[in-house]
Amino acid sequence: MNKIVIEGNGPLKGEVKISGAKNAALPMFAATLLAPGASILENVPDLMDTRTIAKLVEVLGARIEKTDDSTYAIDCSDIKNHEAPYSLVKTMRASCLVLGPLLARLGHAKVSLPGGCAIGERPIDQHLKGLSALGATIDLSHGYVDIHASSRLKGARITMDIITVTGVMNIMMAAVLADGETVIENAAREPEVIALADFLRAMGANIKGDGTATITIEGVTSLSPARTAIIPDRIEAGTFMVAAAITGGDVTITNANPKHMSALSGKLKEAGCEISTDDFKIRVLAKNGIEAVNVTTAPYPGFPTDMQAQFMALMSVANGASVVEETIFENRFMHVAELKRMGADIKLSGNSAMIKGIKKLSGAEVMATDLRASASLVLAGLSAEGRTVISRVYHLDRGYELMEKKLEKLGGIIRREPGGGSKKP
Ligand code: EPU
Repeated sequence: MNKIVIEGNGPLKGEVKISGAKNAALPMFAATLLAPGASILENVPDLMDTRTIAKLVEVLGARIEKTDDSTYAIDCSDIKNHEAPYSLVKTMRASCLVLGPLLARLGHAKVSLPGGCAIGERPIDQHLKGLSALGATIDLSHGYVDIHASSRLKGARITMDIITVTGVMNIMMAAVLADGETVIENAAREPEVIALADFLRAMGANIKGDGTATITIEGVTSLSPARTAIIPDRIEAGTFMVAAAITGGDVTITNANPKHMSALSGKLKEAGCEISTDDFKIRVLAKNGIEAVNVTTAPYPGFPTDMQAQFMALMSVANGASVVEETIFENRFMHVAELKRMGADIKLSGNSAMIKGIKKLSGAEVMATDLRASASLVLAGLSAEGRTVISRVYHLDRGYELMEKKLEKLGGIIRREPGGGSKKP
């Protein structure tokens, strides 16, 4: 196992290129299962999670060839296995994204139930509700969800009880091959949902309304393989925007889509940063200190829960007091105890954190607890006085490609060293 060592130093400066989005790539790997033949995915980030989903579709029968560092050819001519084993699902809950495609293609899917995780209970009842409305029968036993369709799935009207990103993706991927029209109401509007719909359309699916709360799908009888490039990772881009802000830096983020960043950009401007954008570039200049601002997480286009921990690191060194409210996950405050070890003044009350900004954090030995919490500790370390050592960085490797290399290029003093905590099962 590795640890990350950071010596807090001056402002980050320069240009950083954003990788493809993890949360757009994962459903696209699953979607390739829908069509016989070879689909091509470009701009795939090299992460633990993308390697896991590639392994999963391979276990299901796909033949995978990596034609360059970020391009995968995925040949799903011969999908015979319908079972996603516990050994893979336990390492990545997004494995449940194969439920919809397997059900549509084979009429049968058996996927180990993901169980809880560090940020919350995260049930999949809404995925199952949607698939059952399309005509599937569901059996939950021995830790697996076993879904059958005795004939072709049938289009249905489905109102989601809560907004769920992967839930809507699973239902979309099942409905594209169903008989007739499916209408999904109260759908997630995240850019990754639109990216998946674009890919499915390229495969021949008939989908309208993605990016709004109502998605309409007219089922087709078959799909063909397609080629697509993964959209830029808006959470990686956001993390570098906060890195610029917390170090009082001047960073230009390239290969990012500013349209996806509105909520965060707005908050950083309120906090005193200057932000300018071009087509696929965002410059963050933070020369006048950071003012305290409140944020509340919400589904897109609201403030992303995946940026909450990083923003809290920033607020811990802001002028004044702020409140950060988490409304998506019930347990996404694991970074608070670690930030406090670095001197942050944070009080938790239910789903709110009250943060009193201090002048400077102090470097300490801390432990990464989940992906975005790890990112917040890296940001805290960059702005702190002295040395910060972050252990269990395998969390970071699930979702950030070459993070320390990119930060080093911007002037951060950061390196990876062996040691730093063993991997949890
Ligand atoms: N929920 C249910 N029932 C369901 C589905 C979700 O109660 O059937 C609840 C969840 O427990 C949560 C809320 O609904 O409280 C929203 O969860 P959602 O389903 O939208 O999350 P997800 O699809 O499992 C994706 C991202 C997460 C991101 C969330 C919210 C992927 C692979 N993961 O998860 O990303 O936080 O949407 O935007 O797309 C990350 O990248 O660090 C990450 C955790």
